[in-house]
Amino acid sequence: MVQSESWVRNLIQDSPIIAPSLLAADFANLEQEVRKLEAANAKVLHVDVMDGHFVPNISIGVPVVAALRKITQLPLDVHLMISEPEKYIEAFRNAGADSLLVHIEVVPDPVDILKKIRDLGAAPGLVLNPSTPVDAVLPFVQYADIILTMSVQPGFGGQAFRPEVLDKVRVLKQNIRSDTILSIDGGINQETIAESAQAGIQLFVAGTSVFEAEDYQKRIEEFKAIIKHSNGTHQSSD
Ligand code: DX5
Ligand code: ZN
Repeated sequence: MVQSESWVRNLIQDSPIIAPSLLAADFANLEQEVRKLEAANAKVLHVDVMDGHFVPNISIGVPVVAALRKITQLPLDVHLMISEPEKYIEAFRNAGADSLLVHIEVVPDPVDILKKIRDLGAAPGLVLNPSTPVDAVLPFVQYADIILTMSVQPGFGGQAFRPEVLDKVRVLKQNIRSDTILSIDGGINQETIAESAQAGIQLFVAGTSVFEAEDYQKRIEEFKAIIKHSNGTHQSSD
């Protein structure tokens, strides 16, 4: 578990960052998958928690985060697709989560929970679904270290990217602190990563497109090269 909240700030120096989403990993060989991602130079692991209520799917919970924590030092970026996140943030933090991302749709006034997450020593993050207007999060962006724009309806990996959400990313980019990181999740691949970077994304969650690759490192490097090529001016201009 990363003790200092500054890990997100340090991460920004390293951007662009590809965060493999373990939802697409081989769960029967999770440790081996983590070792392969470490060898591939992944800087963050994205962990999708689903409750079968906020989203129509059930994935993993606190014990798996704790198990991951035992085997890796990589920051665990924990995406809570759950209805009552306030009930569980302490347990996830104790299990080793380094960030806790909560959906604005279930916490329309997230100030208290974001402060609590920070008090617990994790990086607070806010998430918005494709159909949620950016205005819903704008009043709260100063309380979050990570703003995650969903580019698919949450619940399942392997869905098609929704480019219209990038309009929201562009608005967010104009309204966040320079030490807040913009993230995107859903349908990120070789075709969609460049336009996301151009909109201002620095942290790219990618499930299917990483785990379907024969060589994770090559795929991550390929993504970084596409971003650099398409977006060289953007990353250095602000
Ligand atoms: C979707 C999850 C994503 C998912 C992305 O609800 O939040 O993190 O794993 O998967 P891909 O990259 O396959 O769209
Ligand atoms: Zn996710």
